[in-house]
Amino acid sequence: MNLPSTIAIDGPAASGKSTLAERLANKLNYLYFDTGVMYRVVTWLALDRGLSMDEEEMITKLSQLVQIDVQSPSKEDGRAYDVLADGEDLTWKIRRPEVDANVSVVAAFPGVREALTVQQRCIGQRGQVVMVGRDIGTVVLPDADLKIYLDASVEERSRRRYDECIARGEEITLESILDAMRKRDQIDSTRDVAPLRAAEDAVIIDSDGLGIEKVLEITIDLARGKGQ
Ligand code: DC
Repeated sequence: MNLPSTIAIDGPAASGKSTLAERLANKLNYLYFDTGVMYRVVTWLALDRGLSMDEEEMITKLSQLVQIDVQSPSKEDGRAYDVLADGEDLTWKIRRPEVDANVSVVAAFPGVREALTVQQRCIGQRGQVVMVGRDIGTVVLPDADLKIYLDASVEERSRRRYDECIARGEEITLESILDAMRKRDQIDSTRDVAPLRAAEDAVIIDSDGLGIEKVLEITIDLARGKGQ
């Protein structure tokens, strides 16, 4: 069966796009690449070096110099892949709340986006890839063979994130997650460069009330219909 070679999946935080992309890539035997990890790595490095989030020039320099790799998991601790920055394993560090709280600011810096987009395009152009982010269908791979925009209400996304945090034993309230989610949505969708939005030729799936299996089924049907 012929299938689309490049699949772009965009959408807001916690819409389920990473889970969908990972499952889809496994099914098709494609590379799964979550571009959000790259913005997270740059944010972590900036925080780790004690930079303030308004030091745009220094943070942009960091993004131009760091070598980010995503590789098969080296440990069985729940990770889907290893995230390495200049060889250092940052897989879990980039998921910390301080990174969550600052990553949208870093992702809005044009120079950071430019540096990371170049790397993302190189990976995408090799084909057989499911790439996830906010601007994959609009900016990184505008010629992707299949574009999905996975949406869900802010309430449902916050509830999902809350359930994940509680399952990990973290102490957090639903209200604080809802508040942080609204702030991130606002920054991601109103920034000047590559704001979060569906590409004109993207298929929009609203996942409110839909389980991952159903969303996967819809996506596989779309992929089959879009074979080259
Ligand atoms: O998907 P995520 O939560 O790991 O993304 C982290 C941040 O990076 C989020 O604020 C949006 C941003 N991002 C982006 O601007 N463009 C991408 N292609 C991927 C992520």
